Amino acid sequence: MINEALRPFLNDLVREHQHMHKLTQTLRDKLTQGGMGGWTETAALEAGSALEQLRKYSLEHFEHEEDDGCFEDAVAIKPTCAPRIDALRREHAEILSALERFQKGADLDDNRPEYWRLFAGQIEELLKQLADHERHEARLIAEAFNVAPDDA
Ligand SMILES: [Fe+2]
Ligand SMILES: [Fe+2]
Repeated sequence: MINEALRPFLNDLVREHQHMHKLTQTLRDKLTQGGMGGWTETAALEAGSALEQLRKYSLEHFEHEEDDGCFEDAVAIKPTCAPRIDALRREHAEILSALERFQKGADLDDNRPEYWRLFAGQIEELLKQLADHERHEARLIAEAFNVAPDDA
């Protein structure tokens, strides 16, 4: 039986993960459009702006997860999950610093197609890492708080 005090946090988590997925999809679309249409200054600006939105939202989302006390509660309920929680925290820092690096890269005045192909490929790797992170996290929260994975 789930502690009902957790319900608002779990609802926020689901909503935030859905919003993050939308921002990720927008970024992918902008990178694909730029790749198909040839990289113009406008395409680069749009991709940079999608990257900025994802970075800002990820920062807020990760802070929410870390400051809410949910990670600590998960460890208190299920101490064996401590190493996995530590790994999630480390991944937050890694993902944010990669997003920051890519955002700086998007500001470069370099619209050569080969630069952007490489850039888009690297971002796709990061987006896969982010999706894996959220999947692991949802599974861990579901296990610790004994809720269905779709609830986290
Ligand atoms: Fe997370
Ligand atoms: Fe998350």
